[in-house]
Amino acid sequence: MASPPHTSKTLKLERYNSYLRRLHSTKVLNASSKLIFRVTLLIALVLILFFTLNYPPLSDKNPNHAHLHHHNFLSAALFTSSAGGDAWEKQVRHSSTPKKPNGLSVLVTGAAGFVGSHCSIALKKRGDGVLGLDNFNSYYDPSLKRARQKLLLKNQVFIVEGDLNDASLLTKLFDVVPFTHILHLAAQAGVRYAMQNPQSYVSSNIAGFVNLLEVAKAANPQPAIVWASSSSVYGLNTQVPFSELDRTDQPASLYAATKKAGEEIAHTYNHIYGLSLTGLRFFTVYGPWGRPDMAYFFFTKDILQGKPIDVYQTQDKKQVARDFTYIDDVVKGCLGALDTAEKSTGSGGKKKGPAQLRVYNLGNTSPVPVGNLVSILEGLLRTKARKHVIKMPRNGDVPYTHANVTLANRDFGYKPTTDLATGLRKFVKWYVDYYGIQTRVKKDSDINSEHPEESP
Ligand SMILES: NC(=O)c1ccc[n+]([C@@H]2O[C@H](COP(=O)([O-])OP(=O)(O)OC[C@H]3O[C@@H](n4cnc5c(N)ncnc54)[C@H](O)[C@@H]3O)[C@@H](O)[C@H]2O)c1
Ligand SMILES: *[C@@H]1O[C@H](CO)[C@@H](O)[C@H](O)[C@H]1NC(C)=O
Repeated sequence: MASPPHTSKTLKLERYNSYLRRLHSTKVLNASSKLIFRVTLLIALVLILFFTLNYPPLSDKNPNHAHLHHHNFLSAALFTSSAGGDAWEKQVRHSSTPKKPNGLSVLVTGAAGFVGSHCSIALKKRGDGVLGLDNFNSYYDPSLKRARQKLLLKNQVFIVEGDLNDASLLTKLFDVVPFTHILHLAAQAGVRYAMQNPQSYVSSNIAGFVNLLEVAKAANPQPAIVWASSSSVYGLNTQVPFSELDRTDQPASLYAATKKAGEEIAHTYNHIYGLSLTGLRFFTVYGPWGRPDMAYFFFTKDILQGKPIDVYQTQDKKQVARDFTYIDDVVKGCLGALDTAEKSTGSGGKKKGPAQLRVYNLGNTSPVPVGNLVSILEGLLRTKARKHVIKMPRNGDVPYTHANVTLANRDFGYKPTTDLATGLRKFVKWYVDYYGIQTRVKKDSDINSEHPEESP
């Protein structure tokens, strides 16, 4: 595409002028208004072309994926402008139609996110239909979300770009596809960011969730819903390991409070409308295609760049520990929860009978002190970290998490199998690959590759 040269405009004008001179004076008025109209049209076209060619790209810190901008713009233009069009509907249907008999048809919210992208591909690979929804917000580098989207497209999973709060878009999706399940993973994540932008938590985790439930309850048939709560709901709970029956009324962050609110809201929609609802309390999920705002991720980045890292200690100088859970284990848990979810019982927005309401921990059951996490990374990266040990600021983090997963094991055979060293090895391999880093990092051959993986 090129903008028309200015000469064409002048030529056109000249032609019009000589044309006008030949006209009777009575016609002059009519013709000149036509001229004004056409010139305006021409200017508008030139302006549109100008803005199209100069469309500002999203920020991108990753030169390896610069080509994605182009893809972004094209897909955004194609898919947003034609949302509701024939081609769009065809793509939505194709993506969400299961390939195996009795396969699920799942709407995955937050599909361009870390957990959402992994789950979407896992579902698609076993023959279920999957449609993604994501707003591609810039809480962390959106180019990573776009790269995951690209990977999903390769796996025939289409992501609709839109917000949880867009009721007409969600209704439209349910008009086009009779989803059997929703895997609701879209949320404003992160504990510390809640102090900077509290409203984003209210908007996505509370208002957005309610909007989704409103659409789901009105849908025919009503889908069964599996959604991500968080281990953070245990807050200041000191009983370990954390079990589903422990108290969760002492959140330490607004993030935790919105997740706890989600659990209560789930109770309400189950009670009033017969929606089948399962909340999964994830414990610090990590792995390839992970989240740049999480410690294992930015420690890797900072260690490689020779920057100091802050390692937290509790107020009484104990090590902070986390029940780090590898992404593949979490994916298995999500699929297990979907497979054992009973149907919702309501129809036409009315409850017809009692429906399933569940909450499960999905953790690794072996907390690791953050100091050990750093040592493992130092080994994998063959670089000594510049550790800066400080007291954990009171900004929402809890000192310790440890999951009791007896319930998930009993109900869908959940059993985590990846220890932190094994999982981090896979993460680091992905990290250096994705960011194209040349370092003293252990060679591919010794880092990993017994199971070369294609999934994100
Ligand atoms: N990763 C973890 O350790 C962890 C732990 C506990 C709970 N969780 C929960 O699991 C879920 C998935 O987490 P993740 O690590 O994949 O996070 P993520 O940020 O990578 O994924 C969330 C995705 O949702 C999208 N999104 C956010 N708000 C949206 C909105 N209003 N409308 C549409 N899309 C929106 C984001 O763009 C993002 O791609 C979240 O609900 C999170 O709170 C994660
Ligand atoms: C784990 O939770 C189950 C109930 O889900 C409980 O019976 C068991 O005692 C708990 N285990 C520990 C070690 O607390």
